[in-house]
Amino acid sequence: MTQDMNEQQPDDPERREFLAKAISVVAGGTIVSIPVGAGLATLVSPLRGEGQGGIKIRLTSVDDLPEDGSPKLYQVVAERSDAWTKYPAKPLGSVFLRKLEDGEVVAFNTSCPHAGCSVGFRSKEEGYYCPCHESKFLLDGSRGDVCVSPRGLDSLEVDKDRLKEGDVWVTFQNFAAGIEEKKAI
Ligand code: FES
Repeated sequence: MTQDMNEQQPDDPERREFLAKAISVVAGGTIVSIPVGAGLATLVSPLRGEGQGGIKIRLTSVDDLPEDGSPKLYQVVAERSDAWTKYPAKPLGSVFLRKLEDGEVVAFNTSCPHAGCSVGFRSKEEGYYCPCHESKFLLDGSRGDVCVSPRGLDSLEVDKDRLKEGDVWVTFQNFAAGIEEKKAI
């Protein structure tokens, strides 16, 4: 993969302001009522389809995740530049992160596998919910008792080595909606 991917912390005021705006838009469009964070990737190439291996991005530190196993929402934002131009940052999607009892972290793409709506989180007991066609998903991402989605939520790869160092790096990727198979696009 030729993408040059690295993390950038939102240090400068302009960047912080952009992230705050982007996050409020996403939070306002879903039923999520949980804390929201963001990860920013810098791509030295055009934004590409995640089918080419996804975008590896640091979303947070392990310590930032709730100890009780509740998921936390992170927006994935990418900015790109080429030899002449730096383009504005653009939201690519979002991810639920959960820390398990054994310290492992699991990640789910919030895009519903049925038709791509944003899935929200209700509670640990009720799990995740997609309002578009009223589908439920359990806390582990599997299909709930009422669910028209052909598969459970799409898990994303979490870098185990970085996790040992206390950082949560995820390979963000989108998958084809409406089919049983989990197929990267
Ligand atoms: S898009 Fe989620 S249930 Fe249809």
